[in-house]
Amino acid sequence: MRSKKLVYEVDNINIDNNDLMVHEAVFHNANGYIGIRSNYEEGYPEGYDSIRGSYINGFYDVADMKQAENLYGLVEDKQTMLNIVDTQSILLIINGQTFSMFEGTVLKSKRWLDMERGITGRHVIWRAPNGNELEIEIRRMTSFYQLSLFTIEYIVKALNFSGSVEFISLHDGGVMNHSNSNDPRIARDSVRYLMPVGAFIQDDDASFLVSRTLKSDLSVCTGVKHVLSKTCTINTQQEGHKVTKNIQTTIAENETISLIKYTVFTDTIRNKDCLKAAKEEMEKALSVSLLTMYHNQKSYLNEYWNNCYLEIDGDDDLTSSVNYNMYQLIQSVGKDEFCNIAAKGLSGEGYEGHYFWDTEMYIQPFFNLTQPSITKNLISFRYRTLKEARKNARILGHSKGVLFPWRTIMGTECSGYFPSGSAGYHINGDIAYSVVAYYLATDDIDFMVEKGAEILFETARLWMDVGTYYNNSFRINCVTGPDEYTCMVNNNYYTNVCAQYNLNWAVKLYYLLKDEDKLSDIEQKLHLTEDEIMEFYHAAKCMYLPYDDDLKINPQDDSFLHKKKWDLDQTPKENFPLLLNYHPLHLYRHQVCKQADTVMAHFIFEDVQSEETIRNSFDYYEKITTHDSSLSTCIFSIVASKLGLNKKAYDYFGNSAKLDLFNTHKNTKDGIHTANMGGTYMAIIYGFAGLRIKENGIHFSPSIPDEWKEYRFKINYEDSQIKVVINHNESKFSLIKGSPQQIHINNKLYELKDNLDVSLK
Ligand code: BGC
Repeated sequence: MRSKKLVYEVDNINIDNNDLMVHEAVFHNANGYIGIRSNYEEGYPEGYDSIRGSYINGFYDVADMKQAENLYGLVEDKQTMLNIVDTQSILLIINGQTFSMFEGTVLKSKRWLDMERGITGRHVIWRAPNGNELEIEIRRMTSFYQLSLFTIEYIVKALNFSGSVEFISLHDGGVMNHSNSNDPRIARDSVRYLMPVGAFIQDDDASFLVSRTLKSDLSVCTGVKHVLSKTCTINTQQEGHKVTKNIQTTIAENETISLIKYTVFTDTIRNKDCLKAAKEEMEKALSVSLLTMYHNQKSYLNEYWNNCYLEIDGDDDLTSSVNYNMYQLIQSVGKDEFCNIAAKGLSGEGYEGHYFWDTEMYIQPFFNLTQPSITKNLISFRYRTLKEARKNARILGHSKGVLFPWRTIMGTECSGYFPSGSAGYHINGDIAYSVVAYYLATDDIDFMVEKGAEILFETARLWMDVGTYYNNSFRINCVTGPDEYTCMVNNNYYTNVCAQYNLNWAVKLYYLLKDEDKLSDIEQKLHLTEDEIMEFYHAAKCMYLPYDDDLKINPQDDSFLHKKKWDLDQTPKENFPLLLNYHPLHLYRHQVCKQADTVMAHFIFEDVQSEETIRNSFDYYEKITTHDSSLSTCIFSIVASKLGLNKKAYDYFGNSAKLDLFNTHKNTKDGIHTANMGGTYMAIIYGFAGLRIKENGIHFSPSIPDEWKEYRFKINYEDSQIKVVINHNESKFSLIKGSPQQIHINNKLYELKDNLDVSLK
């Protein structure tokens, strides 16, 4: 049963132009270091759109960001993730007939993703115009075991003929990034960023291409090598940075032959000499059989699925979508501290490979519970970029603290439109929140000493500089909250409550480290004094949190309720997302939300307000939220669950779960939506199961959608692993490993030693 839900497949005999691009993203292969879009090896005819991309996480060049008016401190350049190479292209020629899905007759065609084995594939039965029939199976893998490695296994069987077989295989370093001048979520200009440095062909037919970026002074090397299952002749042609291999052999009727194409990627962020490293990586790849590699891939994923075990009985389609989303998270997340997880993972060029607050608020919660070592990497990445965040704060006029950039690859600000970019100061609070969330989930105090504390103190300092006392309350003016349809406002509720948490935790951590005698190094390094800590304490205590007495809600900000309400019912369907159809100022002057903002705050900081206020706010904001951002419905689902609005919770959850597989936002072609994928998981665990990890321990308030019979999952908490089974009668909690834990279920405290059954009736 499990494996069925871990395979996603589509029949695609009839090819639609738009589906092709969507499938390039949906079926892409990635391992957190490299990502390859799933283009047809043989290409497409003229008139079909495609983004033929291969990417390295964290590898970038610097592109100009021209500002129309050159005001002080505006961002003048940005990092952009690069399309590195084309090694996907392979033409197959049988008896002079070139295989194409657009010629001859496609008798069968299927694409699949096997999430248990970590392989994608195509299976095609094709009749050439001359009547020759062949069966083709193409399997692709980006190895989790050897992160540099991408393999294509191309298997051909002659069904009714014998004759000649020829593969024409490309290794092309002359590629460019994709652009679209009409969509702000995609790079505007088409520029060639990688310059050839050298092409090296070895005696054994391996080719290595080294390129250097124009501005960031980084180099990348890709190596390609082919292995055919039978004797063949190989002819190599090189034109500049393009190497073409012509591989010829024969095939008899019913015979099966296979070509394995190995590609390795290395870069100078991680290696001093990327050519040398690529040669070593290629040697390593060739030292074991492909079968062994497939086996390693499967065992990696076996452990992964075991760590994030989640099964739902009752809705197979949704279960597949949930599994798909969890699989994409491990494909997308960086595996070292030189990178993070991009909004589109490594599946496309939307948002240019940038990292946002998506990481901390939507993706880390998943890894905290399933693989906390990955969260550690993600926080370490932010720690590595503290220097840039410090500079960023100075550019924006702050004399102390750090301000993390709204979007970035290597740590500097990359947002061109500051009202819904740099003004999103809440990212500082989000990063601080995620450090605390990691600590509460793992109790890893050493990591707090090593990295977490500096992030918490430095982000807290920033709030002291940006905020100001007025009428005895501490206020934060001119910032943008999560909702990007309302910009540069005073006292955004989400931002203020985040800052309050950040300041409070800086105080708590200070005394915690002091008590444990672990404070002195960081105290000295940051010149921190107890007086400053007292200032944090005071500001947090006096933090102004807007509240409206008439509506009994938290207004999104000081002026939000003074504006005209946008009539969403009267807005033509084709005008969504609004950002592509209305001037920003027009949006800013209305009560209309792109995504959960105050409602998000009610999830994250639920104890700050009464349930009545949360319910009123939910009702209020629901009517004016477009969910134009993919970060929205999962949060509405969680808060609906909290409020017992089960039907709504399930609908919002379904919307989140299906977003990429059903392309509901119509832009999956530019890449998957990783934050939403973490959000889908959260909607189950934090939403239906009601998990919260607070200072006083772990809490559940279980519920189950009517559509499900039962769901089961495992989570890590401190040194323990807990299994939870929830059905319509009861919830069962078992301690799988680690120390006994105190757990709160529906606000009642229990001791979890081995098994615990709690009735839901
Ligand atoms: C959302 C942001 C998000 C970004 C990247 C935008 O559409 O409004 O909240 O960080 O996408 O996913």
